Amino acid sequence: MKMNILSCVFAAIVGLFSINTNAKGDDMTNKKNLVVYFSRAGEQYSVGNITKGNTKIVAEIIAEKTGADLFEVKLQNDNYPADYTSLTEVAQSEHNAKARPEIIGDVENFADYDNVFVGSPIWWSDMPMALYTFIEKHDWSNKTVIPFTTHEGSGLGSVPANLKTTTKANVLDGLATYGHDAQNNQDKVKESVGAWLTELGF
Ligand SMILES: Cc1cc2nc3c(=O)[nH]c(=O)nc-3n(C[C@H](O)[C@H](O)[C@H](O)COP(=O)(O)O)c2cc1C
Repeated sequence: MKMNILSCVFAAIVGLFSINTNAKGDDMTNKKNLVVYFSRAGEQYSVGNITKGNTKIVAEIIAEKTGADLFEVKLQNDNYPADYTSLTEVAQSEHNAKARPEIIGDVENFADYDNVFVGSPIWWSDMPMALYTFIEKHDWSNKTVIPFTTHEGSGLGSVPANLKTTTKANVLDGLATYGHDAQNNQDKVKESVGAWLTELGF
């Protein structure tokens, strides 16, 4: 009995000092969180024709769990082909050309956010070029960047390294989700997002 009381007191003290910090000691309490993402509906690999993009589904789960604001990066002139194979070709030439397609609108008060989740489908192991347009428009000093991707085999690809180079911010461990899971197995995705957020200290 004495042991049990002591263990409870110890657990309560540890709990008091460990709430909302991750392994690196970042404290996520009272932080302002933003989820910025790019995503496409239409024909996608392995899932056929979809009405909501895979990355958008994961972005909304993260926003719901963290209370983050959401911003979807959209093209000013969206003339990407509807079929998957043609889109991969256009995306590859944009990637090779380091294109920076114009995007619609912007996040209000970007400077106010502490944590920015950046969500990307993997395109040729990287982010779609429109995300670079967004990234290069902003000052990322003092921000923590948290990558997440949807993919069909490449995981996070070169996204964390490229986010580090372009934002020069503190980049935390990312989450890679199969696009077909985001589309068809959302209970599983909610669980893995929850576990990842806990690991990060949210
Ligand atoms: C242009 C293009 C390139 C892609 N390249 C890759 C790739 O290199 N590796 C990979 O695992 N998946 C690749 N995919 C699959 C997408 O990453 C995957 O379907 C993703 O979930 C799509 O997300 P979205 O619906 O949010 O746009 C590619 C898809 C497209 C359209």
